[in-house]
Amino acid sequence: MSGKVQRPVSLALSLNTSSAANHTHPGGHSIHKFMNELRRTHVPSVQVAVLCLVTLCTVLACSLCVWKKCIKKKNKDKDKKTGKEKDNCDTEMIPGFKEKAKEEHSKDAELSDEEPKEEENLGRLQFSLDYNFTDNTLVVGVLQASELPAMDVGGSSDPYVKVYLLPDKKKKFETKVHRKTLEPTFNETFTFKVPYSELGGKTLVMTVYDFDRFSKHDAIGDIKIPMSSIDFSQSLQEWRELQKAEKEESERLGDICLSLRYVPTAGKLTVVILEAKNLKKMDVGGLSDPYVKLHLMQNGKRLKKKKTTIKKNTLNPYYNESFSFEVASDLIEKVQVAVTVLDYDKIGKNDAIGKTLLGGTCTGTEQRHWLDMLANPRRPIAQWHSLKPEEDINALISNKK
Ligand SMILES: *[C@@H]1O[C@H](CO)[C@@H](O)[C@H](O)[C@H]1NC(C)=O
Ligand SMILES: *[C@@H]1O[C@H](CO)[C@@H](O)[C@H](O)[C@H]1NC(C)=O
Ligand SMILES: *[C@@H]1O[C@H](CO)[C@@H](O)[C@H](O)[C@H]1NC(C)=O
Repeated sequence: MSGKVQRPVSLALSLNTSSAANHTHPGGHSIHKFMNELRRTHVPSVQVAVLCLVTLCTVLACSLCVWKKCIKKKNKDKDKKTGKEKDNCDTEMIPGFKEKAKEEHSKDAELSDEEPKEEENLGRLQFSLDYNFTDNTLVVGVLQASELPAMDVGGSSDPYVKVYLLPDKKKKFETKVHRKTLEPTFNETFTFKVPYSELGGKTLVMTVYDFDRFSKHDAIGDIKIPMSSIDFSQSLQEWRELQKAEKEESERLGDICLSLRYVPTAGKLTVVILEAKNLKKMDVGGLSDPYVKLHLMQNGKRLKKKKTTIKKNTLNPYYNESFSFEVASDLIEKVQVAVTVLDYDKIGKNDAIGKTLLGGTCTGTEQRHWLDMLANPRRPIAQWHSLKPEEDINALISNKK
């Protein structure tokens, strides 16, 4: 399991600070009351003196504690300022980035007692670019990355790269996920069909992500290359530093969590639809009534169909519903499972909210899930998936025919 380091600890620290500060005031108040009470009950004066001394010591210790925390906080604020100035310098060129970077920075400072890093090194990516004038295709090679930061507790990352050509955010490629490495060799090529006359207006984006089965994947950093800045008379190959990535680039349709389990001896594939979250609203005003449809596919054909119950009036449905398919072990590498989340509509046609396709012949995180299932026979393996537009997945399926 991979989680983020440091944050929970420092959060607890800052909680302590505030609770310590809160306690001093009511404490002082009740000491006063207590002394009055003592006077009224005529306790011998030696005992009173001892009690006084003890309480005085306690109060002193408490204030010393609070004072120390204050000093620490002041230093932290100073660091925060210097950090901010540095950010502004680095990102002046990217519109809209400054605000985001600032937000991130103050969030980090709030949550962390750690000294901010002097200069954030996000690693480097090597890529190649080529334009094929016979084919009218842009050929992007994602070659390797180096010095990536560790995103997981274990001091490693599970990197993969998403590639797209702005302004089109829909057509997106993903490399394979490489396990536990900060120096992955991707060595994959992707082609975009685009007339040369239109190429100049486009920007190639390569974003390196850390794969995380249990939460949303974290962007490590990205590289943006305006195609107008490239000389395509010869092929190009170069290293570039990764920059801090902007937040999720495409329209969000929502995420779905499901588990896959395969028992080779029985030839049984079990899919448990666990839950979905942040589903896109399909009706103006109201929430959706989402349900999930599963298709077992091979060569673009639907072999079997199943569906969950309908959850009323929610964008974060919980299902925990299990479905089994018979798939012989010589076929398990060749089939896919298409998972579609739909909004149930009593009158009209049910609208698809989003879709994902899992299988050994898929790419990116969807393929990763399938391979993890095969590597762990008889064990259910759960993972979150981002939903994609139904048309995109259908296009992908018809390519498999
Ligand atoms: C361009 O693409 C065509 C067809 O795929 C291929 O035959 C040709 O070798 C490519 N040209 C270059 C320069 O890569
Ligand atoms: C990258 O892929 C090419 C062709 O698929 C292969 O010839 C080459 O050896 C690979 N390089 C590395 C470092 O894996
Ligand atoms: C999910 O379903 C399984 C099997 O029906 C059950 O054992 C489990 O307790 C359920 N989990 C939750 C959190 O409801």
